[in-house]
Amino acid sequence: MDKVRILPASSKLIGDILCPPDKSFSHRAAMIGALSSGETLIHNFSFCQDTWSTLHCLELFGVTIQAYPNQGVVKVTSSGKDGLSEPSDILDVGNSGTTLRLIAGISAGIQGLSVLTGDQSIRQRPMKRIIDPLRKTGIVIGGRDGDRYAPLYIIGKNPLRAFHHTLEIPSAQVKSCLLFAALWGDAPSFIKEPIPSRNHTENMLQAVGGDIRKQNEIIQVYPGKDLIARPFHLPGDASSAAFLIAAALLISKSHLIIRNIGLNPTRIGMVHCLQRMGAKINLFDVSEEWGEQQGHMVIEHSILNSFEINQDQIPALIDEIPILSVLATQAHGRSIIRGAGELRVKESDRLHAISENLNRLGAEVRETDDGLVISGPIRLKGGKVKSYHDHRVAMSMVIAGLIADAPVEIDDIECISISYPNFFNDLQKIGYRDFEIESNTV
Ligand code: S3P
Repeated sequence: MDKVRILPASSKLIGDILCPPDKSFSHRAAMIGALSSGETLIHNFSFCQDTWSTLHCLELFGVTIQAYPNQGVVKVTSSGKDGLSEPSDILDVGNSGTTLRLIAGISAGIQGLSVLTGDQSIRQRPMKRIIDPLRKTGIVIGGRDGDRYAPLYIIGKNPLRAFHHTLEIPSAQVKSCLLFAALWGDAPSFIKEPIPSRNHTENMLQAVGGDIRKQNEIIQVYPGKDLIARPFHLPGDASSAAFLIAAALLISKSHLIIRNIGLNPTRIGMVHCLQRMGAKINLFDVSEEWGEQQGHMVIEHSILNSFEINQDQIPALIDEIPILSVLATQAHGRSIIRGAGELRVKESDRLHAISENLNRLGAEVRETDDGLVISGPIRLKGGKVKSYHDHRVAMSMVIAGLIADAPVEIDDIECISISYPNFFNDLQKIGYRDFEIESNTV
């Protein structure tokens, strides 16, 4: 297992870099390519462990995938959603919750058996949230331990019974699973979303000709439209950029430009929260394509004030809470995160992992049932912390190490390649080189 020793940053961070490509879009672009007839050329694809899992699963449905990692390009060739065949093997999603939950929606519309499973972490994540609504479509579906966990089995059918469903938790994965299944419906289906979550699936399905409408809280899916392949140029990943943004805000005299960052309002809750905290963050050259905004961002070192965030704001920054917690240790006042119970069922129990790690470095973090209370500013000391095999926890601890008084050692950092394989390269590009990786992989 690889370890990293992070030494305090010895100088400011300066740079003008391209935002790493977006994982969430990459999963969807490949899946929507599989559902569309023709050749889908995807540019700026995020090649990371999770999206490789998606590509491998799609191949098992008989789709042709050509991947060109050096060019950041993937080509998906498909005869469309009704040409997909029963998967020829078990669908192994690795560590990727997005792959499992979204592919389950596709399996629902394919006649035959799909079996979905993944690594130890994925097999402990809740699946009843997709099993119960998918059952309304008339398919046969079930999971381990009374439908709580993967492995899952699905015997799909075409057409499916149309359905109405209200999302009990604001989850883009559950919503997207149901949006995909509804494409095979025998009539329009309606999904009620009381708290909005990222809407990339809706935008991309519309871009290939899907009839998806939103009225107030209700998303309406009208099946029967032919989905036609088209090229996608994907924006950069605001969730990965969040680590670089945090580093630039925290380190004195830093000045950073990040280009082509996805700016969909359902994704950039952290940027809005940071601006309220007093962060010097500005956007320029913002443009929009297929309903998705992107632009460039300038970040300067800033003195930060504390923040409070509630349940309604969580979906737009769900993956950024670990790094936002690191920033909270340096903000003036008491920061409060509420309504974030979903973090307990991510790749790790993130509320627990973050509070354990930050307290170990001398921070004042209190864990509540559904959130964290963090007092600042507090100088972090060095020490040993754990990644909990969770990419976002590991990268958050790296950034904490940059501002600690003494070295911070983090174990099991291979997990970083789940979402951001170039993380350490990008840190080097903006001037941070004071780390030592101890690799035990032969
Ligand atoms: C994702 C949705 C979120 C997020 C995950 C990616 C997606 O999960 O945490 O990293 O791509 O749809 P939930 O929908 O479970 O909140």
